[in-house]
Amino acid sequence: MKMISVFGSKVGPEEIAGVTACMESQWMGFGKKVTEFEKKFAEHFSIENFAMVDSGSNALYMACVLLRLPKGSEIILPSFTWVSCAQAVIMAGHHPVFCDVELDTCNVTADLVSPKITKKTGAVMVVHYAGKPVDMNPVMELGFPVIEDAAHAVNSRYYGKPCGAISDIGIYSFDAVKNLTTGEGGGITAKNKELINRAKMLRYCGIGFSGFDAAAANAENRWWEYDIQEPFIKMLPTNISASIGIAQLDKLNDLQAYRKKIWQIYTEELAAVSWIICPPDAASHETHSYFTYVLRVPDRDRLARYLFDKGIYTTLRYHPLHLNKLYQSNVSLPNCEQLNADALSIPLHPNLSMEDVWYIIDTIKAFRR
Ligand SMILES: Cc1ncc(COP(=O)(O)O)c(C=O)c1O
Repeated sequence: MKMISVFGSKVGPEEIAGVTACMESQWMGFGKKVTEFEKKFAEHFSIENFAMVDSGSNALYMACVLLRLPKGSEIILPSFTWVSCAQAVIMAGHHPVFCDVELDTCNVTADLVSPKITKKTGAVMVVHYAGKPVDMNPVMELGFPVIEDAAHAVNSRYYGKPCGAISDIGIYSFDAVKNLTTGEGGGITAKNKELINRAKMLRYCGIGFSGFDAAAANAENRWWEYDIQEPFIKMLPTNISASIGIAQLDKLNDLQAYRKKIWQIYTEELAAVSWIICPPDAASHETHSYFTYVLRVPDRDRLARYLFDKGIYTTLRYHPLHLNKLYQSNVSLPNCEQLNADALSIPLHPNLSMEDVWYIIDTIKAFRR
């Protein structure tokens, strides 16, 4: 039986041509294509400072390091997010403090963050869940640096500003199922140019430039001797992944429009079903990226199994982090726990045919008929 996947990206001849050209050039690793992608991405979103890295997870870690918070600072973040958010905080030497999210948007708000503030709070990390922008102004008014996780929210906007570039520092994921894919990849942006200069130095083991660059810049001699500036790991993206991203940027608006079309059909068809709660669309001051469509339903596990047996793969994004033993968190976060019990992502991506979409709708409706 054909399985309909829950997430996905779409590439075509343009991405294939980009990758082929890159391979024919015999330069597949980090190089000029990365710089070209960075320039094109920054121009597309009118952001000043942007660096590509090898994943969104690593971009999160990089962001936590770039803030230069005192070791052991607390970073407040939603529990309803991907594990790398908390892992990045810990790897950077800080403590994740989990907070609740709104039931409808699955986003944090200033009111949910505020009770978690202590003397040790160093920053707040927000996630634009599913691509619906967090209400950033009140969160920024709390007075802490804000790390924006825009992994879902490439091309989302809040009062016209691109998500990821609203606050001090933001990150993107370009992994295989994101709205803009580079296979694997990520990006980081910041208001302060110095932070992105530092990111570009750190991502190459804290060296900052290669011997090739040094030789090309006519270093007088011994270009193989490195001036290591800080201890750091390697997070270099490749020319291959950047080539995919360059082609994807040209299609981003069209891919997003197709996601929006599916989203709207889902809402038109499913909002009237008495046992289903549909997710909220963008408000008038927002642009949504439509990364994932999350239903809330009673009997969620049985619905997921039923759909699976009918060839429709669904999932929960995310199993709340505060419930994970590793973090030894004793907090109770009622909305995250409610979502853990009744939320379900159904397929939404540009590889879905309209036939798939109607099959998914009819199959969901038939569950309780
Ligand atoms: C909210 C969120 N943050 C960060 C990441 C990490 O991105 P990557 O897969 O590129 O490491 C993801 C990936 O799914 C995510 O969903």
